Amino acid sequence: MKAIVVTDQAAGTAGMTLTERPEPPASINDVIVQIHASGFVPTEMEWPSTWTDRAGRDKTPSIPGHELAGVVTALGYGTTGLSIGQRVFGLADWHRDGTLAEYVAIEARNLAPLPGDVDFTVGASLPISGLTAWQGLFQHGRLQSGQTVLAHGAAGAVGTMVTQLAREAGAYVIGTGRAADREKALDFGAHEFVDLENDALKDVGRVDLVFDVIGGDVQKRSAALIKAGGTLVSIVGPVEARPADGLAVDFVVEVDRAELGEIVQRVRDGRLRTNIGDIASLDDAVGALNPTTRRRGKTVIRVRP
Ligand SMILES: NC(=O)c1ccc[n+]([C@@H]2O[C@H](COP(=O)([O-])OP(=O)(O)OC[C@H]3O[C@@H](n4cnc5c(N)ncnc54)[C@H](OP(=O)(O)O)[C@@H]3O)[C@@H](O)[C@H]2O)c1
Repeated sequence: MKAIVVTDQAAGTAGMTLTERPEPPASINDVIVQIHASGFVPTEMEWPSTWTDRAGRDKTPSIPGHELAGVVTALGYGTTGLSIGQRVFGLADWHRDGTLAEYVAIEARNLAPLPGDVDFTVGASLPISGLTAWQGLFQHGRLQSGQTVLAHGAAGAVGTMVTQLAREAGAYVIGTGRAADREKALDFGAHEFVDLENDALKDVGRVDLVFDVIGGDVQKRSAALIKAGGTLVSIVGPVEARPADGLAVDFVVEVDRAELGEIVQRVRDGRLRTNIGDIASLDDAVGALNPTTRRRGKTVIRVRP
């Protein structure tokens, strides 16, 4: 099969090459998915799981990419719940070969049915950003209607999901980002916008929930804005700042079939929009994943035309 591989951590996405790899076998509880579209998070190149297996052994050349939408073509021993020919979407294991390829072996529990009226490209854009936003807001952040959310990076892949889901849940959403992100963040539903490069973050007042996708100094300044009993949720590594009288949570997204179902249903009925920028074929993926201009949204690789 055709696949993108990486071999050199220092080279990052610039070290990606398109090559031939053997098709993966299906292990216990796996399915093989013929991938139609694959999502990719650029920071994957910094994750240890891109380079080593669970025992810490070098696994290069490895296939990056974790989000996928495609069709089940084979079942491993003991696999239940999905069938051959079914349309699916979901999230591949961090430590196994990923989804920038024509086929992937993946545990069935990491997939959900993809309704026939949802394009594979849309399906592949949802799992990481959608689940991360959902879990950060509702599971870790315990968001309630009427609360105020400070959504950092509100024009980004996760931030646009955070903004829309929080607003639908009845929250007041203050989006942040760079000056150029203002229009997009407001378009995705933020009630107001803070330009982190020019505005004073402290002027937003007190908030119930900070959803941090940036870290560092932005995280530290945000922690000071949290009301008593509020929460700082971070997805960019161990939290470095804690609210004086609240909770701080960092987490890594997990697959949940029911939550994937909730997310895709919102896309179907128009409550949730995806933030797709460029769509490229697998043959053109290396160039598309190494853009020479600023990304306008998530790059999705359309593996099958
Ligand atoms: N823990 C988890 O489970 C999990 C899940 C998903 C993502 N993540 C991590 O979360 C981060 C965000 O992911 P994403 O896919 O949403 O990325 P993204 O699409 O690039 O969105 C991040 C947004 O924040 C903006 N931003 C970053 N630093 C900024 C700064 N200092 N000031 C103002 N704006 C800033 C970015 O603008 P520019 O593009 O101009 O920098 C971009 O609009 C990544 O580090 C990713 O690895 C973690």
